[in-house]
Amino acid sequence: MKLRRNILVYGAAFAVWFFFSCQKNSKRDKIRIGFSQAMTNDDWRRSMNNAMKLQASLNPKIDLTIRDANYEVQKQIVQIEELIADSLDILIVSPIQSKPITPVVEKALNTGVPVLVVDRKTENQTYTAYLGADNIEVGRNAAKKIISYNTKDTVRIVEIRGMAGSSPAEERSLGFRQTINKYRNSSIIDTIQGDWEKESIQEKFKNLLGQGMKIDYVFAHNDRMALGAWEIARDLGMEEAIDFIGVDGMNGAQGGIEMVQQGILKATILYPTGGDEAIKLALRILKDGSVPKNNILSTTIIDEVNADIMKNQFDKITEQQAQIENQVTAIRQQEELYYSQNNLLKVTMALLAIILSLAIYSIYSIFAIRKKNRQLELTNNKITVQRNQIEKIAKQVKLSNEAKLNFLTGVSHEFKTPLTLILSSIESVSDIANEKESKIKNEVELIYKNSKRLLRLINQLLDFRKVEDRKFTLRASKTNLYTFSENILNDFKREAKKRNIDFKLTTNNKGLDLFIDRNLMDKVYFNLLSNAFKFTPDNGKIAIMISDDLSSDRVAIHFKDSGIGIPKNEMQHVFHPFFKGSNNRKNSSGIGLHLSKEFTELHKGTIEVRSVHGTEFIITLYKGSAHFNDDELIVEQDLVETNIIDFTPDSLTNDTYLVQPTYQEKEKYSILIVEDNRDLSLFLKNKLQKEYEIYLSDGNDAIESAFEAIPDIILCDINLPDKNGFEICEILKRDLRTSHIPTIILTALGNKESYLKGLQSGADLYLTKPFSFSILIQSIKSLLYNREKLRFYYTNNIYKIEDIHSFGTMEQKFIGRLNKLIRDNLDNANFSVEHLAEDLNISRVQLYRKVKALLGISISDYIGNIRLEKAKSLLEKTALSISEIAYATGFSSPNYFSTTFKNKFGKSPGLFRKSIEV
Ligand code: FRU
Repeated sequence: MKLRRNILVYGAAFAVWFFFSCQKNSKRDKIRIGFSQAMTNDDWRRSMNNAMKLQASLNPKIDLTIRDANYEVQKQIVQIEELIADSLDILIVSPIQSKPITPVVEKALNTGVPVLVVDRKTENQTYTAYLGADNIEVGRNAAKKIISYNTKDTVRIVEIRGMAGSSPAEERSLGFRQTINKYRNSSIIDTIQGDWEKESIQEKFKNLLGQGMKIDYVFAHNDRMALGAWEIARDLGMEEAIDFIGVDGMNGAQGGIEMVQQGILKATILYPTGGDEAIKLALRILKDGSVPKNNILSTTIIDEVNADIMKNQFDKITEQQAQIENQVTAIRQQEELYYSQNNLLKVTMALLAIILSLAIYSIYSIFAIRKKNRQLELTNNKITVQRNQIEKIAKQVKLSNEAKLNFLTGVSHEFKTPLTLILSSIESVSDIANEKESKIKNEVELIYKNSKRLLRLINQLLDFRKVEDRKFTLRASKTNLYTFSENILNDFKREAKKRNIDFKLTTNNKGLDLFIDRNLMDKVYFNLLSNAFKFTPDNGKIAIMISDDLSSDRVAIHFKDSGIGIPKNEMQHVFHPFFKGSNNRKNSSGIGLHLSKEFTELHKGTIEVRSVHGTEFIITLYKGSAHFNDDELIVEQDLVETNIIDFTPDSLTNDTYLVQPTYQEKEKYSILIVEDNRDLSLFLKNKLQKEYEIYLSDGNDAIESAFEAIPDIILCDINLPDKNGFEICEILKRDLRTSHIPTIILTALGNKESYLKGLQSGADLYLTKPFSFSILIQSIKSLLYNREKLRFYYTNNIYKIEDIHSFGTMEQKFIGRLNKLIRDNLDNANFSVEHLAEDLNISRVQLYRKVKALLGISISDYIGNIRLEKAKSLLEKTALSISEIAYATGFSSPNYFSTTFKNKFGKSPGLFRKSIEV
């Protein structure tokens, strides 16, 4: 990571360095030379400027600025000041006049800018150095030339001076006069003051010539003024008489050299501009600072003797200069090209550097990523192996858990049958224990209580499994909440009384009906109350408060106790499975509250806990049934859950919700018990045989036993060795011989599926183990009572049954068929029960028992009744004789008919007919 970052940083730095190195020499690297030129209107000055530029161009570092004052002194001062302000390295000045320029030159020196004065000097010579020809020497050379030409005795000379106040004019005049004055035959007859330009002297010279004065020589301080004078002389035709001598000796058109060649000038004194020398000297000043104050350029006389040579030489120089200039231009172009190519190269290099660093970065990244990928792959493989191992272990754990849970569930189911026996046995002995105030009363109560506790625990375990598997389906029915609560409260009253606990139930709405699953809500109540009793000390308080919030759709049920409470930091865990409070020293399974919460939530309700001076659980439930699905609602509770039985013996007789049969039985009803648990079947037999005739089957011969016995009730277990209880029930209910027999299924399976299966198989009742024996008795009686009611209905509607299709049961069909067979054979005195049984495809005994069970009378009595009813109807509606009616209704003789009719209706047929006629 660090290395990758470094690659990028170095790459970027390299690129930035390249970018800045592309810039040309900056201002700081330059040698800044400023030149204040007096004027630029003549060739001498232009030549000076060009020589400077050319020299400067040889050194790329030099940055030369030339300012032209155009003969205006004031302008020159301002321009010099501007140059000083522009942070120059060195100032070159060619002053127009000496005096006025002196202060500004001094100012430049004071600000640290060295000043090189060229051509013309300043006053007091305050400057770093001077460069130019020796003008005194120039004057002297001019004088010497005149004297050397002189063949006459007297030489008359006119001096034309340069601008007053400029040093060349002063010095040339000085040198000239010094030399002339040495020769007695030479005299300066007149002086004309010019300003370096020819126009400034022509008028004056014309005047002078006009005076008729003889003039041999004219010495003008420069070639331009000499030409001006010559032109005047030429105009007056006097040019041959006068020799003109000038200064400058410029090469080129109308330059001094050409004028010498043309004979206009006798001679010209070479006055070099020193442009190139000025630049060289400036660099020297900047380099070592110590240069001679006066740097004198050599001068020479150019006349007809050397003019051609000089011209040639100057031409050559000019040519060379032109070449140099071309070369410099070419170099400049090359340089430009070089710079642009160099820049391009550098940019390319910079880009290359970036690309290179990116490439290195990419390669490095690829390797790094590959390495990381390999590591990841390894880690992934490891994780996969670990995950597979974990999955395998989890599977094993799951299977093992499943097996354990299945085992636990199976064992719990198995526990239920023995517990049923224990509890039912205790129930039986409790009467004896109570009645005789026997010594075993306490022991019996102890056995009973602990069996109940064991049963509750088993039920909780099974419920926990069902909750975990999400197998609970609510079966809510309309229930009066107060009565429901009161019934449960009754179960705890004895304990409350014994421990002097103030145990109360209050409500603000006794008539409130709620839709609840009574079985589940009973468990919730029981759990909460058991907890309350467990943790409330003797003489404490426990209260159930039903608070119907009339303004809302909810009702709250408070279970409040004055017990030990729950530590605050544990409150949120109260409903977690296996929770046990740190202050709870008692035995506890830890699933009761968890189940209570689950069951409450199945009702779409909530449960919360508070703990201030004891514990308070608040269950909030919705009123009405809109919050339940249709399949969660039942109209009545046909499943009687009987897990809890009361030890108090009178509970058996005080059962209010079971219908007491009102019939009086004369002969014993029979019950077939199909049960493979021998203990249970014998226990039931013992308990029931006083009142009922008992047949036993271990399940292997259940069907056969039922066909043989045609009992009045069948009690059938579900888990049986051959066919299971559902199958047995289904077979019996489909068979005409046994279809009428009420069947009670006994099972440890308390789930909805089993219940439904039971109903589908045609079972009339479904009791889950452990069942209370008293409930079983009441269930048997209730079924027999219902059968009795049906029997009453059948016997009173013998002729209507066929028409009432809405019944549509097998029994109605059976009776319909029976009636039809009897009626079809009504006049057949030989039609017997055997014939009937044969036609119905059942045995005579079976027919007898079925008819007895359904109609309460023997089949022969039933046939007789039908014959007699028919006869009665014929007596009423027809004019047939009594003997005719007797034979028509299957009686073998009119006498037998009369006797039987009288027995049935209290009158003989004859008397009966008479009574109608009356
Ligand atoms: C050019 C010039 C020259 C002369 C010099 C003196 O401007 O007039 O002809 O020699 O200046 O400064």
